Amino acid sequence: LFNRPWIFIRGVPSMKFLPPEGPAEVAFAGRSNVGKSSLINALIGQKGLARTSNTPGRTQELNYFVPDGYSGEGDDLPPMALVDMPGYGYAQAPKAQVDAWTRLVFDYLRGRATLKRVYVLIDARHGIKKNDEEVLSLLDKAAVSYQIVLTKTDKIKAPGLARLLDITAETIRKRPAAFPEVLATSSEKHRGLDELRQAILTTVEG
Ligand code: GTP
Ligand code: MG
Repeated sequence: LFNRPWIFIRGVPSMKFLPPEGPAEVAFAGRSNVGKSSLINALIGQKGLARTSNTPGRTQELNYFVPDGYSGEGDDLPPMALVDMPGYGYAQAPKAQVDAWTRLVFDYLRGRATLKRVYVLIDARHGIKKNDEEVLSLLDKAAVSYQIVLTKTDKIKAPGLARLLDITAETIRKRPAAFPEVLATSSEKHRGLDELRQAILTTVEG
């Protein structure tokens, strides 16, 4: 699947615009600017498909990406969809907007039957923060399977990364819906991408 071209099919500004439940969905969640959109582009090898930015708050809807050749409508359903999400924890945007994004993200994560796995992205320079913990708790409560992915590992040195991997694994050890293995990635240096692709395929096929 990751060798084929992918296309953007839909931006969802609120729950009522979600496509009908059908294909397996894999979502990318995380704080603003953690690198969600960049990681999707790196996974599918298409720079610029998911829009990225230096400025937090770039992605403002649930953006659906599917392998090309499927409209995602009716009986032409794709085998799976990747869902790029708005970030949480961006305090600089107007409060009404932040509230709307947060509600959308939380409602989707809690209430989507075809959501197979959430990749919760954590900036390798910062580790798991309080608002990440809130999202993990929500996923545990809703029994939605998730896996932690460290991003931007090109920005820290090897010993720091090894330590962070240990700390992160320990932090999630008692969380019921957490997949125990923590993945380390860099979209910029193309690190950890094959492991993540394999994890996604296993999830979707299983
Ligand atoms: P929002 O949509 O605003 O929530 O952000 P996002 O999580 O989608 O982040 P995005 O992919 O837009 O990336 C944010 C910034 O981080 C951009 O300037 C990227 O170039 C940079 N970035 C993303 N991944 C990496 C990485 O692996 N290494 C480095 N050094 N920078 C990265
Ligand atoms: Mg984004």
